[in-house]
Amino acid sequence: MHFDLLIKNGDVIDGTGEARYCADVGVCGDRIEAVGNLSDATAKTVIDASGKVVSPGFIDSHTHDDAYLLSHPDVLPKVCQGVTTVIGGNCGISLAPLRSEAIPQPLDLLGLPSAFCFDTFAQYLDAIDANPAAVNLAALVGHSTLRVRHMKDLSRPANADEIAKMAADVEEALQAGAIGVSSGTFYPPAAAASTRELIEVCEPIRRNGGIFATHLRDETVDIIPSLEEAFEIGRAVRANVVLSHHKVAGKENHGRSVETLKIIHKQSKLQPLCLDCHPYPATSTMLRADRIQQSSRVMLAWSIPHPELAGKDFVDILPLYDGSVDAAIEDLKPAGAIYFVMDEADVQRIFSYERTMVGSDGLPNDTAPHPRLWGTFPRVLGHYSRELKLFPLETAVRKMTGLTAEQFALTDRGHVATGKYADLVIFDAKRVLDRATFAAPMLRPEGIEHVIVNGIPVFQFGESTGARPGRALRRRIADVI
Ligand code: ZN
Ligand code: CU
Repeated sequence: MHFDLLIKNGDVIDGTGEARYCADVGVCGDRIEAVGNLSDATAKTVIDASGKVVSPGFIDSHTHDDAYLLSHPDVLPKVCQGVTTVIGGNCGISLAPLRSEAIPQPLDLLGLPSAFCFDTFAQYLDAIDANPAAVNLAALVGHSTLRVRHMKDLSRPANADEIAKMAADVEEALQAGAIGVSSGTFYPPAAAASTRELIEVCEPIRRNGGIFATHLRDETVDIIPSLEEAFEIGRAVRANVVLSHHKVAGKENHGRSVETLKIIHKQSKLQPLCLDCHPYPATSTMLRADRIQQSSRVMLAWSIPHPELAGKDFVDILPLYDGSVDAAIEDLKPAGAIYFVMDEADVQRIFSYERTMVGSDGLPNDTAPHPRLWGTFPRVLGHYSRELKLFPLETAVRKMTGLTAEQFALTDRGHVATGKYADLVIFDAKRVLDRATFAAPMLRPEGIEHVIVNGIPVFQFGESTGARPGRALRRRIADVI
């Protein structure tokens, strides 16, 4: 046998959650051709993976990389962690379809207004294929983006005409290959949207299939009704519901993940559900008063008028505004911040739940980003699995590969098996660890040695190879389950 690429003697963790086994992996073109004892085989390129783990490439189930893939096609914060596919368009904010010079917060988390230059979702996916990145992308269409596109006044529920226009865009996006719809009623552009509006806008999912990923209306005291609203929308349009970055925020809610996980688990028997989470007790988004008030500590991640203050603690900035939070927000905005609002025990409990996937929620354009952007995946492997022993390494890998591919219906990805796409990572299980911290958020992780996308190495021993074999992964309507 002759392969393009042969990875020899690795411990294969295949993404199913099953125990690792020693095997060689042979790749031809973009697919895995054989897994097993291939000691007689030859290959153009051979990688000796003795003592290392060979796993499916990691899938970042929650990103805001829609525009970043086009502006920074090496996608270094992700490939250095072993990520081979990102899910874009989360939290209601997708880059497409929208062409606008005035982008309200939080759409600006994706990039500059000039990046919003796609009239249809098909145009956006075509642009990803025409300007490939190092990683694959599967994308959601965002409800807030559609509101900004079709509504002049965002402070009220959409009328019938606006809903029809948004639903037509969802239909176009799903037909073009979007994997579903995301919503973010937590954020100002969609806060006035009713449950009915969301159901009607998502209606094309009922016919075409697709998922409904949601940043809940409230992740604090009203977490339970917010969960119930998400379940209702999912049931109405028969969508798999993805509860984005599941958390219970604010000191008075710490510990309530016991309650939310019980409800989620019970509901998962009645309708398809899953969640994503990142391994840190702090979150990050636009600068807003309610989040500041709920947090034990706040750091400024970016500010357009005051970039020099990025990375500083908010308590050290406040004296510049005589202690007025409102005055500070007014002067700093548009801006983003990192909020310490969760309890680490809740984060670990949520992570340990069987339906929880790994999603970084990284914000790639921030001046002083949350360390989740550069550290999420190695932190789960090295800190949560190896150091804290929260779950076996096989479970950690499953949460970032097979489980995610199954939930998002990513055909032939997320597993090491004959016939699957050759998205692969080779890492050192003894060394893999994040190095990014809140003080030094852009340090690259350790222990990720080779990252292969569609059969092509994109990252080796700490450096990008410059290859850009990533693709737009279009959901096929025929894949409807
Ligand atoms: Zn979100
Ligand atoms: Cu998000």
